[in-house]
Amino acid sequence: MAEKSVLVTGASSGQIGAALVVAFQQKGFTVFAAVRDPEKAADLSKLQSVHILNLDLTSEASIAEAVEFVQARTSGKGLDVLMNSARVEFVMPLVDSSIVEGKRLFDINIWGTLAMVKAFTPQLIRNRGVVVNMSSIAGLVNTPWLGLYAASESALNTMGETLRLELAPFHVRVLTLVTGCVQADIYKKPGEFQLPPKSIYSRIVSTLADTAEGKLDPEMTPAEIYASRVVADVLKEKTGLVYRGNIATIIRIASWLPSILLDGMLSAKRGLDELAKLERKGKNWLRSAMIISSGTFGVQPGRGTQPQVSGNGPR
Ligand SMILES: NC(=O)c1ccc[n+]([C@@H]2O[C@H](COP(=O)([O-])OP(=O)(O)OC[C@H]3O[C@@H](n4cnc5c(N)ncnc54)[C@H](OP(=O)(O)O)[C@@H]3O)[C@@H](O)[C@H]2O)c1
Repeated sequence: MAEKSVLVTGASSGQIGAALVVAFQQKGFTVFAAVRDPEKAADLSKLQSVHILNLDLTSEASIAEAVEFVQARTSGKGLDVLMNSARVEFVMPLVDSSIVEGKRLFDINIWGTLAMVKAFTPQLIRNRGVVVNMSSIAGLVNTPWLGLYAASESALNTMGETLRLELAPFHVRVLTLVTGCVQADIYKKPGEFQLPPKSIYSRIVSTLADTAEGKLDPEMTPAEIYASRVVADVLKEKTGLVYRGNIATIIRIASWLPSILLDGMLSAKRGLDELAKLERKGKNWLRSAMIISSGTFGVQPGRGTQPQVSGNGPR
């Protein structure tokens, strides 16, 4: 596929997209590195055959400009590979998640990806090209605190596989990279993670912060190694779901387990057992308080089931 072109979204320095830009460039591709802030692609701009492209996936105008930019810089030939790597992720219990933030997440991860595919389809059909969507193992299993991100990745898998069928008659391949753990600047810094006030999870906030800071994650595959495997997948004309990055295959196999086994594996160390224990303790304390108040201090009539403690109360 020498002298072909690829557009990689989410190519800011420190992200997997940046490693993909380098890996494709080393294989002789003309590369369009798409970023929101060109300063974050300063290193890539020094590489031969790499064009930095301003792109915001939430802006139709920005996507239309990207289509024109690629068309012009490939002398009208257009794109061969569209690599959708940009996304947003956040760690938050579902009931604490902001709907506004959740919609933004889907606007970027799902609608942004589809908007790019739609915009580049004419060029990809002309060139019998490839769409590569990066998704995550989070979309295969139910991991506490990753609910919204995981839901978007699960939707990406379904969307990618459906697109594969729908674009096959036009000889456009669709590859969905179900990605495991890969080194990238994705974690919150210590002290950054916060729950909303009065969260029902505030008693395990430190465990949630550990999740957001990546302290519970296994070893990460270096981004360069991951990127060179992905480029090989594209060159080998792979299609459909492909599992890459640390623990991707393990999670794929684990996803076939019955939920009675899987739930325990995925909830381990996520604070849910601890929270259940604290809840049980709280209820026991309440029950003891009620027994004490009814036996020793007496329950005031007409106040429902709330313990009404008079005197010094339980210590
Ligand atoms: N790292 C992992 O372990 C891992 C695991 C599973 C799956 N993945 C998948 O691999 C891909 C890349 O992951 P990553 O870890 O490098 O991701 P990341 O750190 O979250 O970076 C994503 C990139 O998306 C860009 N982006 C966010 N909103 C955008 C918007 N509105 N328009 C255009 N670009 C936008 C960001 O740009 P700014 O720099 O401007 O913010 C950033 O460069 C993602 O699709 C992810 O789902 C990664």
